Amino acid sequence: MESHKTKRFVADTWGETKGYELIDSGDGSKLEKFGGVVMDRPEASAVWAKKLSYKKWDEANASFESTSKAAGLWRKNGKVAETWHLEYKSPVNPRLRLKFKLEMTRFKHVGIFPEQASNWEYLASRLNEGDKLLNLFAYTGGASLAGKCAGADVTHVDAIRQVINWTRENMELSGLTGIRWVVEDALKFLRREVKRGNKYTGVVLDPPTWGLGPKNEKWKLEHSLVEIVELVSQVVEPGGFIVMNTYSGLPPSTLETLWRRVLPKASTECGELCLQGRDGHLLSTGSLIRVEL
Ligand SMILES: C[S@@+](CC[C@H](N)C(=O)[O-])C[C@H]1O[C@@H](n2cnc3c(N)ncnc32)[C@H](O)[C@@H]1O
Repeated sequence: MESHKTKRFVADTWGETKGYELIDSGDGSKLEKFGGVVMDRPEASAVWAKKLSYKKWDEANASFESTSKAAGLWRKNGKVAETWHLEYKSPVNPRLRLKFKLEMTRFKHVGIFPEQASNWEYLASRLNEGDKLLNLFAYTGGASLAGKCAGADVTHVDAIRQVINWTRENMELSGLTGIRWVVEDALKFLRREVKRGNKYTGVVLDPPTWGLGPKNEKWKLEHSLVEIVELVSQVVEPGGFIVMNTYSGLPPSTLETLWRRVLPKASTECGELCLQGRDGHLLSTGSLIRVEL
């Protein structure tokens, strides 16, 4: 019988600069440090008990309380800046230095998904000068910046203009230039790229469970997934790659089946995207697949 092991893609490269740290997790929450600011946020997969004392958790600079399924409020403990900066310095790739502006959004996010550091390292090692990278559902652009650091031509697609403006600030903070911005529904953009016959060395995609395009186009993962996978497979050039992750609850083996049906000859690596706590334990944040054509 064939045996498969789920791989763990651990974002363990944050290093001594402590730009980001998962301090503790448990009882449905995680305690994290983002560039010096300690935050307590809900985390459904932290089903175990907290390790640190309640006193330690109470010292967080800000705590997020959900008021609905998708939004909530930040409770600040003393004075906390409205925006602040965080730097990622790769311990293995001196060219990979990214700077982000952070802020507390009403969706509990702060402008960075720190577990993505594993993908930034992959992109920086996989891409070469002049390669073409397409980043779909690109948010504040961690993958776009990593592609730029490697010298690739980067196309960054997100439906929300304010998010693109935020990424532009991150690009400038990181001392980078020349990302191509597309404010568009990812599916519509892909359909046009296929018609135009445009090809990319690599495509990164992080499709959310639900979303809206700039003209209120409805994005629902379960309705659009098969089409998006099909279209992405058509815009990647031979020898290229795809990185897809999802926070929507789809398990790694589902991602594997989805891609193997479209690209049966490609090699795949899939598993869980994880953060590592101060005590060494892993916190799974989502599923990831890397497809090599
Ligand atoms: C989970 S975030 C991606 C995070 C990203 N992987 C990162 O590391 O920063 C999902 C993004 O998809 C965007 N989005 C939602 N619906 C969209 C659509 N129909 N077309 C393009 N982007 C969309 C949102 O604006 C959001 O920035």
